[in-house]
Amino acid sequence: MLTPEQNARLTQVGPGTPMGNLMRRYWLPALLSEEVSEPDGAPGRVRLLGEDLVAFRDSSGTVGLVSAYCPHRRAPMFFGRNEECGLRCVYHGWKFDRSGTCVDMPSEPPDSLFKDKVRIEAYPTWEGGGCVWAYMGDPALQPAPPAYELVRAPETHRFSTKTFEDCNYLQALEGGLDSSHATIMHRKNKGDLSFLTDYKRTIPGIDVSITDYGYCYTGVRQLPEHQWVRLYHYVMPVTQIRGHIATSEFKDNPLIKGHFWVPIDDTHTWTYNWFYSADPAIPVTPEFVAESEESSGRGAWSDPRDRYRLTANRENDYLLDRAVQKTQSFTGIPGVNTQDLAIQESMGPLVDRSLEHLGTTDRAIIMMRQLLLEAVAVAESGGTPRGIDAASYHNVRALDHVVPKEAVWQDELREARLAKF
Ligand code: FES
Ligand SMILES: [Fe+2]
Repeated sequence: MLTPEQNARLTQVGPGTPMGNLMRRYWLPALLSEEVSEPDGAPGRVRLLGEDLVAFRDSSGTVGLVSAYCPHRRAPMFFGRNEECGLRCVYHGWKFDRSGTCVDMPSEPPDSLFKDKVRIEAYPTWEGGGCVWAYMGDPALQPAPPAYELVRAPETHRFSTKTFEDCNYLQALEGGLDSSHATIMHRKNKGDLSFLTDYKRTIPGIDVSITDYGYCYTGVRQLPEHQWVRLYHYVMPVTQIRGHIATSEFKDNPLIKGHFWVPIDDTHTWTYNWFYSADPAIPVTPEFVAESEESSGRGAWSDPRDRYRLTANRENDYLLDRAVQKTQSFTGIPGVNTQDLAIQESMGPLVDRSLEHLGTTDRAIIMMRQLLLEAVAVAESGGTPRGIDAASYHNVRALDHVVPKEAVWQDELREARLAKF
């Protein structure tokens, strides 16, 4: 439970808000590289932390990220011409390069110096892991680019996409860090609910260790034959890294997966979904990507008019099928990530956390909120919050493994916890 003041401090991300200021200290994914794939190709609309922007890949192949509105008379830069290393407003032809410098002003006399006085707001970008990242904070405090293992995995070994989520980022992030719902909500139950009384299996013993990047948390389930170890990372402010829950829980696990929950504004979120092969010798095939997307509730379930939105949405109750809910799955909603979205969006645009009743398995969520509030305070006092130093999470990996009953899992899985790319 949070006070309304704490809730506002955590969830409001616009310019000048405490959380907005904190978020602007980190590199955040602004869009997918595929959205602006061609040099001099079509620009893409971006809304990030409540600011409207336009991305364009310039002639050199580098992505520019500028204000959505021309500084002349506020015409939309999205309609602009992307040509010869700059984006030209189509209203009166003013042209800006990716640093925001005005490089041409055909509506003013040739000897005018006005061009040198006008800039368009522009943010630095960096590309990696299939994403274009943006830094929107104080230029003097710009940190080194992100160092997730994802951004070092070659294109042949990784996949990144995103889904529009119609709610505040924090309830989406909390849903991702909430390990205890995984074996309940996402369960395929075939009409048999006996798993709900198997407390040891359903409820992990959660151990949260605070780190320089956020925390590492472990859910160890003691099963009759094995210990099932799930070790996740929360990398501040909005990243989760986890091991892949294989179709069979006990199958050897070739993937590292994760999400970035990036605030579009206070009531909308881009959920970036990504994975990469845990083994540098094994690339991911297009067939595998298609199958994985399908089971997540995307792929064929994506809106044909906009592949980053789902066909299953609030208007159609996420295609909930009550017959399926009785006989095949716990929710009756198709697709794992669709189930997450259904719950998170239907909590309302921004959850009132003063009405909650948190239990023992909510520990990871409580810690995450504490870390974010701590980071807001650190940023306010001029310090460097956790997770800004990319070296702090450069080598981490998540786990989803089973180990023998008698093993000390920390020893058994020491090597598996380290990045291989
Ligand atoms: S409004 Fe863009 S050039 Fe005039
Ligand atoms: Fe989930």
